[in-house]
Order: sequence, then structure tokens, then C-alpha cells
Amino acid sequence: METMNKEIVWHHASVTRKRRERLNGHRAVNIWFTGLSGSGKSTLAHAVEERLHQHGCRTFVFDGDNVRHGLCAGLGFGAEDRSENIRRVGEMVKLFLEAGVIALTAFISPFRRDRERVKALVGAEHFLEIYCRCPLEVCERRDVKGLYAKARAGLIQNYTGISSPYEEPVDPALCVETWSSPIDDCVEQVFLLLVEKGIISPPALRERDMAMR
Ligand code: ADX
Repeated sequence: METMNKEIVWHHASVTRKRRERLNGHRAVNIWFTGLSGSGKSTLAHAVEERLHQHGCRTFVFDGDNVRHGLCAGLGFGAEDRSENIRRVGEMVKLFLEAGVIALTAFISPFRRDRERVKALVGAEHFLEIYCRCPLEVCERRDVKGLYAKARAGLIQNYTGISSPYEEPVDPALCVETWSSPIDDCVEQVFLLLVEKGIISPPALRERDMAMR
């Protein structure tokens, strides 16, 4: 492995991330949604993506359930496999950021250490951790996929919140109360955060920029 890496030389592209960002009219960033299964991560990520798309941004959503069918197929839910799941997603996100895209990720990502690793990999200034806070009782009551019931019955091992821990973010960029706030409010909070951080232009400016193209 070592020898092979030494013989591979990094190729520098003339079209850089900065140039792609300028062309796109927004910065590339990773919006990392974390929370329990059923906390609304995917729903919110897709709704934010819709909003950003309408705002003229280039976006892509990585979703736990989907990624585990391909890129991360074969990985289970033990701590080691979850770490590997998040590591792979982090590497993929890093490429998307180079491509100038706003990468939205919806993974339980229950371990702080794994989320911190992605943050370090993509760069803290390009990583926005959004905690989709939803009490376990609510997620369990919803039980959209029927997996909580199976986990309680002992049919699924290592289920987050039941038989495997979830470590809450310590200092997230944003904490969204997905259980009590309407989805449009949650979207707005994320959207405003992006404007505040200078990642996207405010609606009025963006409309002017688009009209000038
Ligand atoms: S993570 O922990 O590695 O980040 P990920 O977000 O990819 O998890 O996948 C979570 C989804 O897998 C859940 O929404 C649920 O549908 C399904 N799942 C199946 N088994 C488990 C389990 N033991 N714990 C949590 N989620 C599970």
C-alpha cells in the first residue's frame, strides 16, 4: 500500500475549487445533519436542497439509507462499521466540495469522534454540523420504518437509542427542533445560517446576480 501511494503523483487541476465556486456564485460547504433514526434528517436535508436549488445553487444529498446500498454496502451497525461508513462519506464529501457543490449529508453518525474526523478532513470552516433534535420517544412513536419495534423486540442489534448510544453534538452550528418546529421553519433556519456565514447570497442579491448572467 505504502509503495503504491509513493508512486502515485497528485495531479493539480487548472480549474480549481475557487474558480468553480465563483462560477456557481456560492461557496461549497458540507451541511452535516446528525440525529436519531426518524429525527427528520433526510426530510430536512432534501427540503433544504430544494430551497437551495430554487436559489440557483449546486447541491447534492448523501443519505444514510441510500449510501448503504452502494458506496457503503456491506457495512453493518457495530461501532467500527459505522466509523468506516462515516469515513467513506467524508472522503466523498471532500471530493464534492472540490467540485464546488453544497453537500448535504443525512447520517445518524452517533459518535462525536467520527463527526470530528469528517470536520478535520473537509476543514472546519467548510463543515456545518446541524443537530436534528428529536426525543427518542417521538422517533419511536413515529417508527416510520418499523425498526424501533424490531429493536425493542431484540430482532435488531445495536440499534441507535435503544441498544447503541447516540452522542449529542457539543457545539453544533445549529440545533433544529425537528419534532416541534414545522419543516418550513427548520428549512428557513438552515437557509439563514448559510446567508449569515456568507456561503450563499441573500435572495435579493442572488436574483440580481442571476439576472446579470
Ligand atoms: S450511521 O450510524 O452509520 O450513521 P446511517 O445513517 O448510515 O447510520 O444509517 C441509518 C439507517 O439505517 C437508519 O435510518 C435505519 O433505517 C437503518 N438501520 C438499520 N439497522 C440499524 C441500527 N442497528 N441502528 C441504526 N439504524 C439502523
